[in-house]
Amino acid sequence: MGTFKHFYHKNYDERLSIISNFADLNNQEVDEFANSKNQKNNSLIENYITDYSLPEGIAVNFIINGFNKVAPMVTEEPSVIAAASNGARMFSKSDGLHAKVISHNLTGQIIIKTDNYNLLYGYVKNHYAELLRTANNAHKSIIDHGGGAKKIHVRKLDEHYCSLDLFVDVAEAMGANIINSMLEALASFISTNHNENILMSILSNYSIDSLVRVTGKVPFAQLGKNGISGENVAKKIVEASHIAQIDPYRAATHNKGIMNGIDAFVMAMGNDWRAVESGVHAYASRNGSYQGLSKFTIEDGALFGEMTIPLSLGFVGGATKVLPKVKVNQKIAKVQSKNELMQMAAAVGLSQNLAALKALVTEGIQKGHMNLQLKSLAMSAGANDEELAHVVDKLRQLANPNLQDAQTIIKKLRK
Ligand code: MEV
Repeated sequence: MGTFKHFYHKNYDERLSIISNFADLNNQEVDEFANSKNQKNNSLIENYITDYSLPEGIAVNFIINGFNKVAPMVTEEPSVIAAASNGARMFSKSDGLHAKVISHNLTGQIIIKTDNYNLLYGYVKNHYAELLRTANNAHKSIIDHGGGAKKIHVRKLDEHYCSLDLFVDVAEAMGANIINSMLEALASFISTNHNENILMSILSNYSIDSLVRVTGKVPFAQLGKNGISGENVAKKIVEASHIAQIDPYRAATHNKGIMNGIDAFVMAMGNDWRAVESGVHAYASRNGSYQGLSKFTIEDGALFGEMTIPLSLGFVGGATKVLPKVKVNQKIAKVQSKNELMQMAAAVGLSQNLAALKALVTEGIQKGHMNLQLKSLAMSAGANDEELAHVVDKLRQLANPNLQDAQTIIKKLRK
């Protein structure tokens, strides 16, 4: 399209003007974009037009591995932070959440077109140390940081393709660039020295070698609601987690609740939430059908929650370096390493899940959300900070309040 020819060569003002003409934006709409521009981000992404901001809040009440913690969360969903804090509070009434990193290696693959799996397998076996060395030579500094390529597997995909899987400890980094450089160097070595036909080399987001496990107990006394005893609520939560194991329809929503917390925390920590999402959902399907990630059981007279998930996160590098709020968020969360980041993300996810399940099996999700939903309705209708409480009050008195009701209330108030 002529209008966008060499768009990426234009300077900021030219780009904004092209977009404004293309979409027929009025002055107010152009200002909305121009006023939020950040010169630094102009070179962070291609064709930069504005900063798109999301609210950040702090979920409280966490005890993780014996330490009091709070979790910065970036989300646009009104109920998420309240629910995470509520879940964390319930776990804190025993001895809090316990989280342990099982492994934190990145996985990458070289896809090789070959009909002879045995030959490739034999080559890798006989040259194992040399292949690992070749991978490490592509990013030598990782060894100084305590990491490096750890193991290689060869997997037969079908009659014509194999995957050579490389597992790399990328230390505190997210590591996408590190592992991709290693894979490309290794692929080129294998193609030259063993005459293999390489299709491609790339990290895998199926991060099965980067697992964290979180557990926590909730005393029955924390769970009673709406005349249902704590023990009975606990039993219903156990049933709800069972349903997420046997029904993919429910599992998807169950896991969405967990990811409400994890994504929001991962975003606040400047990490790649798309990578986390794809890894987690692939892991949820590892048994052949899509299942809930967490499980609740009753143990020693309390509700016991557990979850093991893959989380491929980075404490340094990437966006953690570029987005200035990330360093502050790391300080607020009191995380000082990749392991602590993984532990906290998992703890936030399980707390989020507990709060959702408790609400679902007792009063339902709508009641708890109502106040927040009315607030966001009032805000969408244009209520300002001073008007908000009054508009929400009036909306609560209506049977099925909608946007038009909110607008009418605001109009009356402003008369
Ligand atoms: C809403 O964003 C998340 C829930 O649907 C999660 C769940 O159903 O477990 C409440």
